[in-house]
Amino acid sequence: MYNRIIELNQQFEDAAPEEVISWFAKEYKNKVTFSTSLGIEDQMITHIIATLHLPVNIFTLDTGRLFQETYDTLSITEKKYGIPIKLFFPDANHVEEMVKNKGINLFYESVEARKLCCYIRKIEPLKRALSGMTIWITGLRREQSPTRQDVQLVEWDTTHQMIKVNPLIQWTLKDVSEFVRKNYIPVNELHQKNFPSIGCMPCTRAVQPGEDLRAGRWWWEISQNKECGLHK
Ligand code: ADX
Ligand code: SF4
Repeated sequence: MYNRIIELNQQFEDAAPEEVISWFAKEYKNKVTFSTSLGIEDQMITHIIATLHLPVNIFTLDTGRLFQETYDTLSITEKKYGIPIKLFFPDANHVEEMVKNKGINLFYESVEARKLCCYIRKIEPLKRALSGMTIWITGLRREQSPTRQDVQLVEWDTTHQMIKVNPLIQWTLKDVSEFVRKNYIPVNELHQKNFPSIGCMPCTRAVQPGEDLRAGRWWWEISQNKECGLHK
């Protein structure tokens, strides 16, 4: 499998995202799924999938703690493109148990508590969302964080035992914004309010001029390695 991954990276080294997504959609028909957070990068990918009528399933992990603006983006996008975005919810029993034991705002208490919340509200539902699929498309970009510098266009995801495709790794926020503007793609209103990266409402704030793109995510944590575990 690793040789195949190397070959695919060589094959698509300079390819446009449209070409990459179309190729995987056709090669692995009905086994391709795209995870959208409804952020600007993901809106670009949804636009490509919808306008090229690609057989790619689209889903979002609804943690139950998203911003209203994110739900508005979801609703507008489904209507504009006439496509469904499937929602995956956390297991209700696990959420009830967690909140009973640790409190509703446990994420502010410790990194460990925050990771538990991310596990229950995102990672476990992600496993269900990816199950039965062969290809997982994401909107990861290298520019987003020092921890994402080594992300490859095509990767083997050992956790889920599947191929992960990140067609926007080389794209900057400026490039993505330009594509979105030119193609009249709907985006989350929070982006105009200095939220370049949008996750759950209690765990995301606006960034100040000069701060990095993900400085508003879990802003109270000191570590530079601020990931929720979706991408290892
Ligand atoms: S996160 O790991 O810190 O939350 P980020 O917000 O940068 O990730 O998004 C990176 C990619 O992860 C997105 O392009 C998307 O593919 C996926 N992703 C993040 N959050 C969600 C979500 N709630 N639902 C589905 N996919 C998501
Ligand atoms: Fe919970 Fe915050 Fe993680 Fe969302 S980002 S799942 S609210 S800890």
